[in-house]
Amino acid sequence: MKYIGNKTRLLPFINDVIEKNQLPKKGTFIDIFSGTTSVAQYFKNKKYKIISNDFMTYSFIYQQVFIKNNKIPKFEILINKEKKISLQNEELFSSNDDNLKNVLNFLNTLKGKKGYFFNNFAPSGKFKRQYFSNKNAMIIDEARDLIGQWFKKKWINENEHYFLICIIIEASDFVANIAGTYGAYLKIWRSMALKKIVFNVPLILDNKLNNKVFNEDSNKLIRKIKGDILYIDPPYNSRQYAPNFHVLETLACWDKLELKGKTGLRPYEKQTSLYSKKDACVETFKDLIQNAKCKYILLSYNNEGIIDSKIILKILKMKGRVKVFSQQYRRFRTERDHDKRKYKVPDDVVSEKLYLVECL
Ligand SMILES: C[S@@+](CC[C@H](N)C(=O)[O-])C[C@H]1O[C@@H](n2cnc3c(N)ncnc32)[C@H](O)[C@@H]1O
Repeated sequence: MKYIGNKTRLLPFINDVIEKNQLPKKGTFIDIFSGTTSVAQYFKNKKYKIISNDFMTYSFIYQQVFIKNNKIPKFEILINKEKKISLQNEELFSSNDDNLKNVLNFLNTLKGKKGYFFNNFAPSGKFKRQYFSNKNAMIIDEARDLIGQWFKKKWINENEHYFLICIIIEASDFVANIAGTYGAYLKIWRSMALKKIVFNVPLILDNKLNNKVFNEDSNKLIRKIKGDILYIDPPYNSRQYAPNFHVLETLACWDKLELKGKTGLRPYEKQTSLYSKKDACVETFKDLIQNAKCKYILLSYNNEGIIDSKIILKILKMKGRVKVFSQQYRRFRTERDHDKRKYKVPDDVVSEKLYLVECL
């Protein structure tokens, strides 16, 4: 997923710092701002027990599927009850993967219907927003309504419900007509957006451990958890995640709220991050560090962040011995420099810092 601050490209760098500084190879790894779960998945694969968290619902659904789960659920009741799901495999319930494939084969044949999503996010819908082709928005509408009904009728359990929502979010994001975030839709169709949406089986890692996932404010949660390595990847600029990824949140919640404005925004007061506010970010960050209960802290922050590196160092030094590592990488930018938008660093290269604290 294209996501502001996604750390997929930095994973080898983070791992290198962990290995070269001989941090614990086992134990609990906390990813308290998990976003796409890329970091949590990587360290789950390295057999750490994972605690992950994010205050956005779509991220929580990703965490349920990719972090908490160690295998694909069975979908047994659904396959028994939903007669329209045809079984590709002769053997009933041969494997969980096959069961899910059968469910997705069925969802992939839906014709679609004109509903809430179509009206809010398709060009021929009531609000004429061009986030999805008419056809894809109709399929998303039908699929998302259907899995909500299956859950209500208890044909799928909570976990299976999370799985199917996650699959819809992932597939929708792939065909969204955007440049990077949902802050705006494109006026011209990008080619991917005109392809038919396809629901795919996700890849699930099994670390055979009891991983825990949360959907809370980081500063509330920090008071309740402890671990060996605490990885902190907070927002580093004033762009809020809720308005930039509102369509994914709408798909995750499916609460059919009345959406506002040109882009169909949902209300997001409760998901406004203090880490993105100049007047509150330092105190919020300090509070998080002071309340952390762990052996090591790893903090990702880049050189354009709203908290000055000297202040970061001062706060971290109160917690323990600090080392700083940095790596340059190409930025995720949705717009170029222009008269009203000048980036502090003129070219496309950003220096991402990794602060390592050995807590005392
Ligand atoms: C830089 S992104 C994390 C990216 C993630 N490491 C990845 O690779 O996808 C920051 C995340 O923090 C979340 N967030 C911001 N403020 C938060 C808060 N106060 N509590 C919990 N999550 C928060 C945002 O929703 C966003 O997903």
